[in-house]
Amino acid sequence: MQKKRIYIQEVACRDGFQNEAAFIPTDDKIEIINRLSDCGFAKIEVTSFTSPKAIPALRDAEEVMHRIQRNPNVVYTVLVPNLRGAERAMSCGVDEVNLVMSVSETHNQSNLRMTRERSFEQLAGIIGEVKSTPVAINISLSCSFGCPMEGDVPQDEVLSWADRFAELGVHGITLCDTTGMAYPTQVRALFEDCKARFPALELTAHFHNTRGMALANANAAIEAGINRFDVSLGGLGGCPYAPGASGNVCTEEMVHMLELMGMDTGVNLEQLLQASALLPGLIGHDVPSQILKAGPRLKLHNPVGSMARSQ
Ligand code: COA
Ligand code: ZN
Repeated sequence: MQKKRIYIQEVACRDGFQNEAAFIPTDDKIEIINRLSDCGFAKIEVTSFTSPKAIPALRDAEEVMHRIQRNPNVVYTVLVPNLRGAERAMSCGVDEVNLVMSVSETHNQSNLRMTRERSFEQLAGIIGEVKSTPVAINISLSCSFGCPMEGDVPQDEVLSWADRFAELGVHGITLCDTTGMAYPTQVRALFEDCKARFPALELTAHFHNTRGMALANANAAIEAGINRFDVSLGGLGGCPYAPGASGNVCTEEMVHMLELMGMDTGVNLEQLLQASALLPGLIGHDVPSQILKAGPRLKLHNPVGSMARSQ
């Protein structure tokens, strides 16, 4: 029987690096992205074209995007919050623009410093321009499973923003659990509705592990028919403008789990672990990854005490 294909999209270099206090040198960013390009990802989110005042960690976006070695099998995407960001991204030959706004008014105001309607207006203008080019358009809707400042966002509210973007002709929609508020039954219900409503669109699930539910949520999304996930190497990640935000679902934990469950992620776990092992040196601190600490399930150990007895 053919294995179920799951598309894995690496976001550590955007969602992860944006949140690091110490600037990661441009050459180091390029080196890790080049490594990740050989791991089998469907998509890599390289950086974001945001204001360097808002996200100083990614102020080298142009240089990174220009200097990486691109693998033709990988879609290279970048996060774009406004018109200026779209112009910068398009000048770098990206494969996709990942437009972003929040379904929560309060989070949109604090993250993007504008109302949701103003965001929509700008993003609609970008879609109008980019649609006539070969560049793909995705929209990431932050706080789709709850806002750390407003609380629950009604499912109809999330779907109505998705509807408005679908009508404009985007290729894909990502529902983001920006601060790990999602839980499995909620995830299943929202993605089932989304899948029924937008059968022709590429739908992506973007989870953070803030409350330890990211892998359970990923499973619930798969049950709802979702086959694309944003993941982050080492479990890095977090939005500087969402209180309490922490790491994304960890790439190696996700790949490890899905492959054990008989799914085909296309990603090479061994290469992934080698790349993840480089992260602490790069960012100067430990990463949340459990698989990096414990190793894969069948990495066997000598019996405890066997060394002592044999001496
Ligand atoms: N890239 C580079 N510079 C940008 C820019 C962009 N995409 N957008 C705005 N700027 C610059 C402007 O040129 C202006 O520069 P100046 O002060 O030298 O004149 C300055 O930023 C202010 O512009 P303004 O349009 O008033 O933006 P703002 O200060 O209201 O910020 C955003 C709006 C959206 C640009 C900013 O909030 C942002 O980048 N947010 C991203 C947050 C994020 O990435 N969060 C995590 C991921 S969800
Ligand atoms: Zn995120």
